[in-house]
Amino acid sequence: MTILVVGGAGYIGSHMVKMLLGRGYGVTTLDNLSTGYRDAVLGGEFIHGDLADRTLLDKVFSEHRIDGVMHFASFIQVGESVQNPAKYYENNVVNTLNLLNAMVAHDVKRFIFSSSAAVYGEPIRVPIDETHPKNPINPYGRSKWIVEQILADYDRAHALKSVCLRYFNAAGADPDGQLGERHEPETHLIPLVLQAASGRRESVQVFGRDYDTPDGTCIRDYVHVTDLCEAHLLAMDRLLKGGSSAAFNLGNGNGFSVQEMIDTACKVTDKDIQVNDAPRREGDPARLVADATLARKELSWNPCYDELETIVRHAWQWEIAGSR
Ligand code: UFG
Repeated sequence: MTILVVGGAGYIGSHMVKMLLGRGYGVTTLDNLSTGYRDAVLGGEFIHGDLADRTLLDKVFSEHRIDGVMHFASFIQVGESVQNPAKYYENNVVNTLNLLNAMVAHDVKRFIFSSSAAVYGEPIRVPIDETHPKNPINPYGRSKWIVEQILADYDRAHALKSVCLRYFNAAGADPDGQLGERHEPETHLIPLVLQAASGRRESVQVFGRDYDTPDGTCIRDYVHVTDLCEAHLLAMDRLLKGGSSAAFNLGNGNGFSVQEMIDTACKVTDKDIQVNDAPRREGDPARLVADATLARKELSWNPCYDELETIVRHAWQWEIAGSR
């Protein structure tokens, strides 16, 4: 069984490649290395290339027997997507369409898509289940929702079966310490807090303490990257067994505030972390928490690393290895 992992040199994709190899799958990674790292791809075949290159895509599918595709290659910065929507629609939508068209042309019919809680926009009810209205509030979220709708059309037209996995806050790192988060620039809370703990950064900012939450800081549902990858395997398994297309939330159903995250990081690292209060960041909902009952039921997904301390500990292991 060979899986094409697009974006396999990135944060989540690289963990996926490692897991697939460990479970005996053949893996071909396609990545343009615009935000990923070649050394994060721990095995299998690596192809350096871009989804904008349709000739290359045709070649990849002609020369490999691919049983399914997992697509992680997208831009993920919400703020940047507001400033530069073209960058997001070109990569996250148009390039994804190139990939889907190449799949259809070569009769590859199983697709796992990295979607996001951003498809829901500002929640009207929390926890959020999959039936919650989809009202993305920025081009990043819209790009994900557009692809989900394209996938529904491609199922009807071409019987291309897909599972859209709507991640809440992907976090943590490989429990073995071989892989972790390496975004440049880093915008995510956990790595920033841990960089402040290790001394790679002077301090961390808290974006807003005046939200309608118990301590005034935003609440998020952090889900371990290894648990996310496990869900991808289960989703691919569903399609390999002939299951129907679907969309699932991936989160633990537990919300933690920014302040709780900082407190947990202080405890795990045993360091003082300098914190500065800053204004709210535009477009941040007060609370995003998943109802992931459907993934648990239909995929038998059972996250192993659902404790915040474990998530932070694994991320810390990676941070201290990198800052040594
Ligand atoms: N935060 C801070 N200080 C920082 C960074 C973040 O206080 O320096 C806060 C944010 O305001 C937010 C929380 O920490 O309340 C989490 O922020 P992240 O940037 O780590 O994550 P987001 O919830 O903004 O974003 C995540 C994914 C996005 C995706 C979004 C979907 O990273 O790709 O969830 O809702 F779009």
